[in-house]
Amino acid sequence: MRIIYTIGLLLMITLTGCHSYTPIESHEQPDNEKVKQQQNNHALLSPDRILNIAHRGASGYAPEHTLESYHAGEKMIGDYIEIDLQMTKDGELIAMHDEDVSRTTDSEGAVQDFTLDEIKTLDAGTWFNEENPELAQPAFSHAKIPTLDEIIDNFDEEANYYIETKTPEEYPGMVKELISTLKKHELIGPDTPQGKVIIQSFSEASLHDVYEIDSSIPLIQLISYQDTAKITTTELDKINVYAVGIGANYTYLTKEYVAKVRDAGLLLHPYTVNEKKDMKQLIEWGVTGMFTNYPDRLNEVLGEMNRD
Ligand code: G3P
Ligand code: CA
Repeated sequence: MRIIYTIGLLLMITLTGCHSYTPIESHEQPDNEKVKQQQNNHALLSPDRILNIAHRGASGYAPEHTLESYHAGEKMIGDYIEIDLQMTKDGELIAMHDEDVSRTTDSEGAVQDFTLDEIKTLDAGTWFNEENPELAQPAFSHAKIPTLDEIIDNFDEEANYYIETKTPEEYPGMVKELISTLKKHELIGPDTPQGKVIIQSFSEASLHDVYEIDSSIPLIQLISYQDTAKITTTELDKINVYAVGIGANYTYLTKEYVAKVRDAGLLLHPYTVNEKKDMKQLIEWGVTGMFTNYPDRLNEVLGEMNRD
């Protein structure tokens, strides 16, 4: 039986570090132990598993790409922490979606014009409090932009990472630095469970760069459709050479597209799916996971559909 969690229980959710995370919205939560048991039924990259990818963390509840958001995703039993990478002037990998800091910090300018020390002075959470007064928390105004190193250091061995090389053409050293960081933390290599780290990119060239260094890392080719999604067998065959799947914007997907990708033996992870009705439809069509700002909602849907 699923357990209805009250808002009181959500108020008890405590995040690591000096900040606490307190979702204000009241909603049903599935039994976390049951969700974990179901997740263990299939390997991460099994086509029979629906992966719950916490998009920029549980970014519906906390400022995206902060430790607060990533920990919220973990508490909501997301399978993966999704991380967009940018690179600082001094070559450090940091988590940020945009190439420019203005949308999500109290400063402005290109990430590549900031050193890491300068990046660390920025406030990465006040914008969220201002835009979401109902979810605002004082602790968010102290949120900092984390490095990839710091993110990995903040989670235990159960965490899985779904990492995107953002605008890699702007950062020639990005892929090498990424692989080096993952190796240092023993997140890739023969002794690591398959799928512990997935690397995704809109840039096919960037994925090829990863593949050339280590062909065992699972790769996802991101595609942004501007109209009804279509893909040829030739394109699928090409992707199948280096990637395990496709990540595509969900709004233009069709049942036929999903079937074609899945019949080609590729995984399919639509982004960014936040409404339960869309989650349910995509699962019925056969997707193998999805990016969501609300990992709790996706687990509710999976529970309702008796899926894992
Ligand atoms: O990585 C999947 C999805 O996150 C791609 O879109 O713009 O949110 O990085 P974006
Ligand atoms: Ca992304």
